[in-house]
Amino acid sequence: MVELVIDTDPGVDDARAIMLAQAHPDAKIYALTTVGGNVGVDQTTANACVLLDALGVAPDRTPIYRGAGTGLLAVQYDGAYFHGADGFGNNNFLPSSRRVEGEHAVNALVRMANERPGELTLAAIGPLTNLALATRLDPALPHKFKRLVIMGGTIRGTGNNRRNPSAEFNAYMDPEAMAIVFETWQDFWLVSWETTLHHQLEPAQVEQLMSVNTPRGKFWAQLTRESLEYVTKRMGRPGLLMPDEIALAIAVEPEIVTKSEHRYMSMELRGEHTRGQTTVDWFNLTGRAPNAHVVLEINKERFIELLMASAQ
Ligand code: BDR
Ligand code: CA
Repeated sequence: MVELVIDTDPGVDDARAIMLAQAHPDAKIYALTTVGGNVGVDQTTANACVLLDALGVAPDRTPIYRGAGTGLLAVQYDGAYFHGADGFGNNNFLPSSRRVEGEHAVNALVRMANERPGELTLAAIGPLTNLALATRLDPALPHKFKRLVIMGGTIRGTGNNRRNPSAEFNAYMDPEAMAIVFETWQDFWLVSWETTLHHQLEPAQVEQLMSVNTPRGKFWAQLTRESLEYVTKRMGRPGLLMPDEIALAIAVEPEIVTKSEHRYMSMELRGEHTRGQTTVDWFNLTGRAPNAHVVLEINKERFIELLMASAQ
C-alpha cells in the first residue's frame, strides 16, 4: 500500500490527480496539505474540501492542512486564467462544511514524516513553498519520506508561463522554494512541463473520459470542461494536459515510468527572462551529484487505464 501525502493547490488537474490516487486500489491518501498557487490558499483549501466531499471521503479519513498563501518571495500571479476564478473551472461549487485542521501544513509535514519515518510518499503538485519551509524546519526531512514526486520545472526551457515562457508554473510561483528543495533533496522524481506535453491525451481519449456517465465521471467532466475549451482553442484540437495526474500516477505506481535519467537539476533565480526556469545537467558537465530522476516517458496505456478508473 502506498500511503500518500499530497501537497497541492487544487486546481483542476490537482483535483483529477487526487481522484486518480483515491481510486487506486493500492493507494491511501494519508493527508492533503494545501498551498496557494493556481488560486489563493483559501480557495485551494476550500476546493480540497469540496473535492473530498464529492468523492465521498469520510470526514475523519483524510485530514486537510492549510499551508502557505504566497511563495517565499511573494509573486502577484496565479493560474485563474486557466483553472477559473474559483480554481475549479468556474463551477462555483457550494462551499463544504468539512473541517480543516488547525495545524499549519508545514508543521504537519514535519510531524507526519517524523511519526512515520520512511513510510510516506510525498507528491508535491503545487508551488514548493510548504516543502521548502518544512525542510528548513527539519533538515533531515528528505530522509524521512519514502519518496518524493514533484510536478514542476522545465528540462529543455519549454515552459507554460505567460511572463517567463521558459518557466513552468509551479517553478515560477516559488523559484526560491524549488531551489531549496533541489539543494536539499537528493533523490526525487520530477515530472516536467515538457514531459507533460509529450503525454498529451488524444481527442478520442478526451471524449471517452468526458463522457463517463457516473456521478464521479460527471464531476470529472464538470471540472474539466472549461479548461478543455481553453486547450482546444490554443492547440486547435481537443486535447488535455495532465501534469499533476502524471505525478500521482508515478507516486502510486513507480513502475509506470518507462524512461528517466538521474541528473543534477538547478534553478534560475536571477534571469530577467528566465527566472523560474530549471536546468538539467544532461552530460554531468558540472560533476555535481544527481538530485533528480528526470521522468521522460511513462506507460501511456496504463496511464489512460488509471485515468479511466479514476472517473468511474
Ligand atoms: C502545474 O501548474 C498548475 O497550474 C497545475 O496545477 C500544475 O501543477 C502545471 O504547470
Ligand atoms: Ca497543481
